Amino acid sequence: MKITVFSAQPYDRTFLDDALERAGDRLTTVELIYQQATLSPQTAVLAQGSDAVCVFVNDRLDAPVLERLAALRVRAIFLRCAGFNNVDVAAATRLGFFVARVPAYSPEAVAEHTLALVMTLNRHTHRAWLRVRDGNFALDGLLGITLCGKTVGIVGAGRIGLATARIFHGIGCRVLGYNPTPVPELARLGEQVTLDALLRESDIVSLHCPLADDTHHMINRDTLARMKRGAMLVNTSRGALVDTRAVVDALKSRHLGFLAIDVYEQEENLFFHDRSSSIIDDDMFQLLLTFPNVLVTGHQGFFTVEAMREIAHVTLDNVRCFVDGGECGNRVIDA
Ligand code: NAI
Repeated sequence: MKITVFSAQPYDRTFLDDALERAGDRLTTVELIYQQATLSPQTAVLAQGSDAVCVFVNDRLDAPVLERLAALRVRAIFLRCAGFNNVDVAAATRLGFFVARVPAYSPEAVAEHTLALVMTLNRHTHRAWLRVRDGNFALDGLLGITLCGKTVGIVGAGRIGLATARIFHGIGCRVLGYNPTPVPELARLGEQVTLDALLRESDIVSLHCPLADDTHHMINRDTLARMKRGAMLVNTSRGALVDTRAVVDALKSRHLGFLAIDVYEQEENLFFHDRSSSIIDDDMFQLLLTFPNVLVTGHQGFFTVEAMREIAHVTLDNVRCFVDGGECGNRVIDA
């Protein structure tokens, strides 16, 4: 069985090859064909001759791409990620694709990155590092707040949201959680509240819900206005949860105090690639980078050794289920 692995970076190859070797006899018929290209209508042809594709967060699996893959006789899609907002599930169902994902590889990895972003932005360690290297030991501009005792609002109290809640609870923050369904663990860590109460009371609002029709631009002009003046917004979930234009305006009006993002609405043209020698043709992104109170990382929340191992291991487990025809609990579309 041949699988074209799209958006393959050197580290993907390392971890997938290692997992394949560990799988031993169970997956001897599997051949992984690595492609650095992102899956799109133009690159779908690279899957020619393969039975399946293996994709990541910025690979596009909309109806036209899925139809092209189906025409090439590709039958399965293995996502190396948890979110599947990039897959047109209705089209994939209609075309009979087997679609499986890695639902949880290391919620703590993303939660810890969230903490890193908050700590960095609050205490300006990224700016301090640059200053000290330049022999500048002045503290002006590096003033932070003590996080202990502050209120942190977790939007989406699932695996990552709860791992984040545990961390902030651990450093003495008051934790508020918003989730459409009851989450009993929140009572131990803080309180489950309405979105309105969370926005009104939180010093830090951290997004951990999936991107779907009802969460698209959930942070917009209206919800930003309901946040505390000077609060910090953190998004390590999906870029389109946030209306970037509205956030820029809220930063300019000084209503939003800080912004930390690991994801960006138009990130597929930027993230995971070295663009240091190119002109970045995205005015909104470039504008964001000019604010001293904005911190951007390039979708690296998941990027730990443990998470990469787990992604590779579970992806190949999903492949084995497809090959053997066995039960697969990680299917995005039920058979
Ligand atoms: P999960 O499925 O365990 O939790 C999501 C939670 O959001 C659930 O409790 C669900 O009830 C809740 N939810 C659904 N609709 C909501 C709404 N309208 N408002 C508030 N909450 C809502 O998912 P998990 O594993 O915690 O992942 C969350 C998201 O994190 C993923 O969907 C993905 O977009 C993102 N992610 C980001 C990574 C990164 O590297 N930055 C890596 C992995 C995931």
